[in-house]
Amino acid sequence: MSLRTIFACCFTLLLASPALGATDEQSSIEVWKSSTCGCCGKWVKHLEDNGFVVKVNNARSSTLAQIKRQAGIEKKLSSCHTAKIGGYVIEGHVPAADIKRLVEEHPDAIGLTVPKMPIGSPGMEHPSGESEPYDVLLVKKDGSTGVFASH
Ligand code: CU
Ligand code: CU
Repeated sequence: MSLRTIFACCFTLLLASPALGATDEQSSIEVWKSSTCGCCGKWVKHLEDNGFVVKVNNARSSTLAQIKRQAGIEKKLSSCHTAKIGGYVIEGHVPAADIKRLVEEHPDAIGLTVPKMPIGSPGMEHPSGESEPYDVLLVKKDGSTGVFASH
């Protein structure tokens, strides 16, 4: 192996590693949910189907409430499960595409929420295919919200 080849290899490695790190941060998500929540499990499956690597924690409801409070998710903004990715909080049945957009656009905010559990959101599919319109809200650092996406 010539010196030039060795140099080229190391250079490629150097270039490759930050990119790998970024991909990791954009696809690893940690979820807190109740062990008995069926729709939470379906939402986790929706994330996995869309390329996320999901770490699931089953927690009791008092712990879940505490996690939401500490994350800055008020009661009126809350849903069944809470997740964290790249420093952001994801509350409720947020579509995977919106999470990807959040991580890419990287706004100065706490995260995203779909309050309550709208029928037809990922994990809340109705057997009849019925769905209701819902908004994904961006939760800002001062606690105010804005519409991030409408479905
Ligand atoms: Cu749910
Ligand atoms: Cu849930």
